[in-house]
Amino acid sequence: MSTALIVLAAGKGTRMDSDLPKVLHRIGHAPMLWHAMRAGQALAPERCVVVAGHHAEMVEAAAAEHDPEALTVRQTEQLGTAHAVAQARAALDGFDGDAIVLYGDTPFIREETLEAMCAARATQDVVVLGFEAADPGRYGRLVTEGDSLERIVEFKDATEAERAITLCNSGVVAAKADLLFDLIDAVGNDNAAGEYYLTDIVGIARSRGLSAGVVRCDEAETLGVNSRAELAAAEAAFQARARAELMENGVTLLAPETLFVAWDTAIGRDTVVEPNVVIGPRVTVESGALIKSFCYLEDAHVSRGVQMGPFARLRPGAELAENVRVGNFVEIKNAQIHEGAKVNHLTYVGDADVGKGTNIGAGVITCNYDGVSKHRTVIGERVFVGAGSLLVAPVSVGDEAMTATGSVVTKDVPEGALAIARAAQDNKPGFARKLMSMLRARKAAAQAKKTKNV
Ligand code: UD1
Ligand code: MG
Repeated sequence: MSTALIVLAAGKGTRMDSDLPKVLHRIGHAPMLWHAMRAGQALAPERCVVVAGHHAEMVEAAAAEHDPEALTVRQTEQLGTAHAVAQARAALDGFDGDAIVLYGDTPFIREETLEAMCAARATQDVVVLGFEAADPGRYGRLVTEGDSLERIVEFKDATEAERAITLCNSGVVAAKADLLFDLIDAVGNDNAAGEYYLTDIVGIARSRGLSAGVVRCDEAETLGVNSRAELAAAEAAFQARARAELMENGVTLLAPETLFVAWDTAIGRDTVVEPNVVIGPRVTVESGALIKSFCYLEDAHVSRGVQMGPFARLRPGAELAENVRVGNFVEIKNAQIHEGAKVNHLTYVGDADVGKGTNIGAGVITCNYDGVSKHRTVIGERVFVGAGSLLVAPVSVGDEAMTATGSVVTKDVPEGALAIARAAQDNKPGFARKLMSMLRARKAAAQAKKTKNV
């Protein structure tokens, strides 16, 4: 059966106290909305409809950034979850499959859970995702009879007996799309909140002799975010899950709780990550790499067998080829470091190409910025860039060339050449001693003068 997603993201999120709509607050460097959309995308949906309302333009832009094919619809007034789903009707016109309703502020639903819901649709007309709540609080309660879900009652409308139920509503619902909209048509707003509750569709379906059932998941999956404190808790939960997945996939983490990754971080097996490493978005690390302590990576690629750090920083566009070495206090930006090259100490390489087997000495800087524009430095293969060289871009250094220590290289260096670009040394015999006694005499005279004046 083909599927379509309806992601509810119109709510304001008052308790976030923010100019940003709640669903755009980030977990693992990605808006919560993207997490919900990604979970749903595992079902290869035919359509994905995002219902936006509060700050709709921002939500729509974010949805399109993640999935250019996502459809967006607007709910101008937030009259309840059923009303929100109803806004997706036109966008699902002609769609003849199952619709799955997700919340944009519930980022942890697993793909497997959604697959289980789709499978349950084979025997149930309406499938609701429920969970046993440690503290059921204000969640909607699932009223069941045996395996059948009879109705959902919102906390505000529940009797004492119903409030004692611990099986709660996550909000995720699956039903044939045309049936879903039919049922929603029958939902009213005569309840404690004066809202159109999506949850009412279960009772309506049962009264029509249709079947409804529950798929259960862990409470952790249904974790929603309503405040900054909950956002921080969600980030922690995300990191814990991501670290566990990395380790399951054969990555060694020496102190898992000190590695921070992004929602799209990919690390190959047998890579070792030492304590205190931060990985931002769009980072891929191949197998068998070693990332030493205190590295910070974003938008970068690390190939097999690379060793980097401690204290190395990869900025956007950094690409390290196989077996590259990047040492301490090295920053690399928008640069390709080719196979086996070494950049080991106190160096900035930006907007550059560093050829195979090249060695960059300590304290080298590619001077890539003239205050207005960025320029490129191209360094060939097996080059030796002497310590303290400043490579003033645009400039190139040919294969197997060398630059002398402390050179300021402003002209291209031909293949195999040694570039010496610094003032020649001039030794003045005995001058250091003379200079020293002259300076001491001057200091003593100045002190004598001061004492007299007192
Ligand atoms: C809802 C469920 C409740 C469930 C709980 C789980 C209903 C009536 N209740 O309650 O049974 O236990 O979620 O967290 O469905 N939204 C819109 N437009 C609206 C209203 C809501 O887009 O008009 C979106 C919100 O942005 C949010 C989601 O729908 O992403 C849920 O809305 P919320 O107000 O949080 O519902 P709850 O009261 O928590
Ligand atoms: Mg809620």
